Amino acid sequence: MNRDAVYSAIERELGGAARRGAPMSERTNFRVGGPADVLVTPRTPEALQRLLAILADHAEIPVFVLAGGTNLVVRDGGVRGVVIDMTAGFDALAFTRQPDGTWLIETGAARTVQDVVEACAERGLSGMEWGAGIPGTVGGGIKGNAGTRDGDFAGTLVSVDMVHFDGTRRLYSRDELRFHYRGLDMAQRFIVVSAVLRMRPGDPAAIRKQIDDMIAWRYQRQPYEAPSAGSIFKNPDHAPAGRLIDQAGLKGTRIGNAMVSDVHTNFIVNLGGATAADIIALIDLVKAKVLEIHGVELKTEVILVGEDDPHIVAGALHGKG
Ligand code: EPU
Repeated sequence: MNRDAVYSAIERELGGAARRGAPMSERTNFRVGGPADVLVTPRTPEALQRLLAILADHAEIPVFVLAGGTNLVVRDGGVRGVVIDMTAGFDALAFTRQPDGTWLIETGAARTVQDVVEACAERGLSGMEWGAGIPGTVGGGIKGNAGTRDGDFAGTLVSVDMVHFDGTRRLYSRDELRFHYRGLDMAQRFIVVSAVLRMRPGDPAAIRKQIDDMIAWRYQRQPYEAPSAGSIFKNPDHAPAGRLIDQAGLKGTRIGNAMVSDVHTNFIVNLGGATAADIIALIDLVKAKVLEIHGVELKTEVILVGEDDPHIVAGALHGKG
């Protein structure tokens, strides 16, 4: 079966949930990226399992899982294969009090981290304050172990419900999961369906204040005036990436309409109409300069996907495999 036939099979199986040639620029905070061959929005774990079951028979078709698009650069040529859109459906949010007085919160993967932070704050529950101001969804946040100095998903989770790429679904308890700084190691590729987090009762006014203070701090220290993708680089062991980039004199450096932010140098901002190529060239320039000046090899925290060449049009659009 050629790719087009597989995409047609997906369209039959998932109905209107599949869209060919969907522009990824609408799906990334950075506002860059060419079209996906097919963007599929499964909305339920069962639909997701059916989709993965079809794809499991066609290992030659690349699959990319899209969460909030907040930490993502999609190249200008777009994404070949199937993009699974996990931003719709998967919106459970349920609170249950435990006999020991703590609370368990079940949250769907498509909920934003801010939905969960706010829902906990409204109920006077403490444990999610670290997430204040973190963009993106719970599913993406768990995959990338999103967090701040004050906490992260690894420290808050009780369990995670996942579907694997072979279509099987499994509930993992926290101690079965190997989290590290901004990541989660799994033997098999996975998609988060939902998760359970533990909170404890706290002082509602203190929780509110901590959240508001953190958001105010972010507005002071991080750029919000233009699209970005949060921190571009992971912090190396011995010094924060932002300090290294700043000391290398790169603040305000521009390629096309992408610029090293003059508010926080570990952010790149899209001044309007930047291409993914501009952003990637700027990432490479920053890496080269920091290596030259500090002898440190920066590693990207943002995820880069897709094809460089904007002239490669998705084969599926022409009905080819
Ligand atoms: N710094 C500079 N120049 C700059 C920016 C920062 O010298 O232009 C220095 C600061 O003075 C500070 C140090 O670098 O001494 C660290 O900066 P900051 O306190 O802003 O924190 P960060 O390490 O850059 C991390 C996370 C952020 C998170 C903040 C707050 C990483 C890679 N980044 O930033 O996460 O919001 O802490 O908790 O871990 C993200 O992951 O997308 C993100 C924004």
